[in-house]
Amino acid sequence: MGKTIAIANQKGGVGKTTTAINLSASLAANDLRVLLVDSDPQGNSTTGLGIRKDPEQLTLYDALVGDRPLEDVIRSTEFDGLDIVPADKNLVAANVELVALENRESRLRQRLNSVRKRYHYILLDCPPALDLLTLNALVAADSILIPIQCEFFALEGISQLMDTVDRIRDSFHHSLAIEGILLTMYDDRTNLTRQVADDLKEFFGDDVFKTVIPRSVRLAEAPSHGKPILYYDVRSRGAESYIKLAKEILANEQAVRKSSQSVR
Ligand SMILES: Nc1ncnc2c1ncn2[C@@H]1O[C@H](COP(=O)(O)OP(=O)(O)OP(=O)(O)O)[C@@H](O)[C@H]1O
Ligand SMILES: [Mg+2]
Repeated sequence: MGKTIAIANQKGGVGKTTTAINLSASLAANDLRVLLVDSDPQGNSTTGLGIRKDPEQLTLYDALVGDRPLEDVIRSTEFDGLDIVPADKNLVAANVELVALENRESRLRQRLNSVRKRYHYILLDCPPALDLLTLNALVAADSILIPIQCEFFALEGISQLMDTVDRIRDSFHHSLAIEGILLTMYDDRTNLTRQVADDLKEFFGDDVFKTVIPRSVRLAEAPSHGKPILYYDVRSRGAESYIKLAKEILANEQAVRKSSQSVR
C-alpha cells in the first residue's frame, strides 16, 4: 500500500507540479486514495488544489523539521479521494535546518511510514533543485517520475539527477526505481519536439512513458481556478492525457505484480 512516487527534475518549469496535481487527481478518479505531498516552498501544488495559504495552517515544515505528526498536517481537498500535505514559503528554512538534524535525508521517509497504509498512492512534488527537500523525497520514494520538457536543453542536468538516484540506491540500500520519463508540453508540429523525443527514447528506452502530455492552454489555466484539469475541463486534451498516464502507471504496476507472482 501507499506506493510512493517522487516527481523530480531539478530543472525549473518542466511540468512537475502540473503532473503532481493532475496525476494525483486522475489516480484518485480511479477510486484510489491518493496523498499529494507538496515538497516545494513555492507551494504551487497547494494553491493548485484550491488550498488557500493561511499562516495558521500546519504545513510540511511542521512535520519535517518540527515534531508534528504528519497526520495532523494532512488536509482533505474538495476532490474525491485526494488529500494533501500543504507547503508554503516557510519550507525554505527546512533546507537549512535539516542540515543539523539527525537522519536529515530520511526524515520524510520516516514521517510517511505512519500514513502509508491509508493510501494507494503517495505523490511527492519536488522543488527545482537537488536540495535536501528533493533528497528527502527520493529517499522516501519507491520510484521517480521525471517530467522533461521537449526543448533544446531538455537533457541538461539529467545525468546529474541520475547520479543522485544512483547515490541514493547505494547509500540507503534502496531499490529506487524509475517510474518513467514523461514528455511534457509536447507539440508534435515542431521538429524540435520530435527530435528531443527521439533522443530521450534512445537514451532511456522503455523507461519513457508511451503517454505524452501535449502543450495545452487549459492545463496552464486550471491551477488559477484551484482545480485539477479533470474538474476544470474534463474534455480537454490535457485531461485526456493525464487520465491516460494514470492508466499506464496502473497497468505497469499490475504487470510487475504478475511477473513477480510468476517468479514465486
Ligand atoms: N502541458 C502543458 N501545457 C501548457 N502549459 C503547461 C503544461 N505543463 C505545464 N505548463 C505550464 O508551465 C509552467 C511550469 O509548469 P509547472 O509549474 O508544472 O512546472 P514545475 O516543474 O513544477 O516548475 P517549478 O520547477 O518552478 O516547480 C506553468 O505555468 C504551467 O502552467
Ligand atoms: Mg513546481
